[in-house]
Amino acid sequence: MRTNYTEAFRDDRELGAPRTFSAHVGARQREWLRAFTEAAFAWPPVHHDFACGTGRVLRMLDGLTSAAHGYDISEAKLAEAREIGVPADLHVVRATGPLPSTMDIDVPALVTVFRLLLDAPPELRERAMEFAAGMLPTSDSGLLVVENHGNASSLRGIGRSAGGVEDGAGLSHDEVGELFDRWGFELLTRQGFSLLTQGFYRVAPVRWLVPGLDSWASRRSFLAGRATDLLYVARRRH
Ligand SMILES: C[S@@+](CC[C@H](N)C(=O)[O-])C[C@H]1O[C@@H](n2cnc3c(N)ncnc32)[C@H](O)[C@@H]1O
Repeated sequence: MRTNYTEAFRDDRELGAPRTFSAHVGARQREWLRAFTEAAFAWPPVHHDFACGTGRVLRMLDGLTSAAHGYDISEAKLAEAREIGVPADLHVVRATGPLPSTMDIDVPALVTVFRLLLDAPPELRERAMEFAAGMLPTSDSGLLVVENHGNASSLRGIGRSAGGVEDGAGLSHDEVGELFDRWGFELLTRQGFSLLTQGFYRVAPVRWLVPGLDSWASRRSFLAGRATDLLYVARRRH
């Protein structure tokens, strides 16, 4: 687990650089998330994005929600989001103390937590779930979508363990499941977005082939558990 969480994530904007691994994965997630949101909700949900950073996920759902709110601890990130023109109300949240919770239980909510859990210390993982539970108090309140961008059961994760690399960088399905359990969430489904790693996207002779192949393979549901990057969908049990 990384120790300096803030330092580890200075590169938010690099995610948008064209043709990078992250840009491909982000584009696939955007397409999936938009289709999922339209199919899963009878009418446009209120979107709450925890640890929104510069608003990447809020932008993915532009036009499909009845209202959108981004929450982050960093005023600087939220200022960048405003500068970019993120279509959402942006709120600073603190590291401890009370968190915002839902005001309107009649409108379904979609809570998203992207690129946070893997590198977050345990207390921040709990805090993200506390936020989700506050926005989704019952099973009828809506859905939670959480990203694991370093699946420990991916081919990469297994390769690293087999090679004796124990850097603690991966997040396992069991760890996510336990976190969901503790906060009264049940896992509904998992969706993979990449089976390969960044390195494959840089290999010159096959660079043209890799994105299409990886996109196709990672969407096979039986391979979701092996994806390097995946989303979990959950809802409250009661
Ligand atoms: C890697 S960025 C992810 C941003 C965005 N979710 C995305 O996928 O592009 C992690 C974000 O978590 C935010 N963060 C860190 N600690 C936090 C906390 N205690 N509460 C809310 N946000 C936090 C950081 O400021 C940063 O914007």
